Amino acid sequence: QKLDLELAAIEKGGYDHFMIKEIYEQPQAITDSLRGRLDPIELTLRLSGLEKIKDKLLQARRIIIVACGTSWHAGLLAEYWIEELARVNVEVEYASEFRYRNPIITPEDVIIAISQSGETADTLVALEKAKAQGATIFGIVNVVGSSIARITDAGIYTHAGHEIGVASTKAFITQLTVLLSFALKLAEYRNTISPELQKQLFKEMNDLPSKVESILTESKDSIKQIAEKYKNAGSFLYLGRGYNFPIALEGALKLKEISYIHAEGYPAAEMKHGPIALVDENLPVVFIATKDRVHEKIISNMQEIKARRGKLIAVVSQNDQLALGLADDSITIPETHELISPILAVIPLQLLSYYVGTGRGIDVDKPRNLAKSVTVE
Ligand code: G6P
Repeated sequence: QKLDLELAAIEKGGYDHFMIKEIYEQPQAITDSLRGRLDPIELTLRLSGLEKIKDKLLQARRIIIVACGTSWHAGLLAEYWIEELARVNVEVEYASEFRYRNPIITPEDVIIAISQSGETADTLVALEKAKAQGATIFGIVNVVGSSIARITDAGIYTHAGHEIGVASTKAFITQLTVLLSFALKLAEYRNTISPELQKQLFKEMNDLPSKVESILTESKDSIKQIAEKYKNAGSFLYLGRGYNFPIALEGALKLKEISYIHAEGYPAAEMKHGPIALVDENLPVVFIATKDRVHEKIISNMQEIKARRGKLIAVVSQNDQLALGLADDSITIPETHELISPILAVIPLQLLSYYVGTGRGIDVDKPRNLAKSVTVE
């Protein structure tokens, strides 16, 4: 047993947990997922998996994304990206719901499965069902040669490397990198993006690893302090709008997975239809309020929470004095294009949940009742 413990310590490479090691591996994971695909000099993108189904994609009536858990959150953000950039109808489905409904699927549908493990039973069966009805199946999978990878017609591997922590972090960031690449390439095929915007976004994607690195080094201590301050709260609310709404959901999921604190993610404007009733001086509310087209709107949502004495923790863009002035505690992230900023915004939320979980003495690598890969329904 002593040997096992020593081996585990070596594998963790000096970190206390796999989860924090994997959080810190994210700049490298993004680089790996873009390698050989994004040319940083020419600012062009090549996705051979996508080329394989180019004709199908151009004829597609719609894209249906199926996934579970954190991968489903990546799918939700992909819906926003694909609709905005490529102007194609997208539906995002929980695999478990999709497989037991009687969904209308035709050979003109392209199904994208997102899965870290490639073994999630519900996702696999949902794909089998869609395949039997003639749809084209595309996989965004981390584990090479996994069951889901094998039943797809084409796909893109995320190349996050082996993820051990039960709560997904680096796999999620690479799913986002690949899905944004997918949306940009599809937009190119469909002529729905200007070359200038495409190049600008490629450049911003290429800068992602260094920006993630700067969040990891510069925000760690302040996030630790924030975690310490709120670790005994009974419940958290996470709010975001637009591209940051799926990030609010992911932030809340991360917190409940590894701290066992109840957390809910909501679209910020929806809070007045229910969650606002929960707000009092004991409720920490995490806002993802980076500078984007709905920034003014989220600022007024922050004011609404403040007026009800909720505690405001905000993830904001650097130099956003307005948001910084409102928040009780804030974490800044580097400026980037609004389509890219959700990829940066999730990093502080991962760290927050890690430090809340460890601060509460939880074994964050093996949280109770959860499995890394759910191969039974
Ligand atoms: C489990 C894991 C999650 C993961 C989900 C989907 O619940 O604990 O981290 O997001 O399954 O897994 P997949 O491997 O299909 O992405």
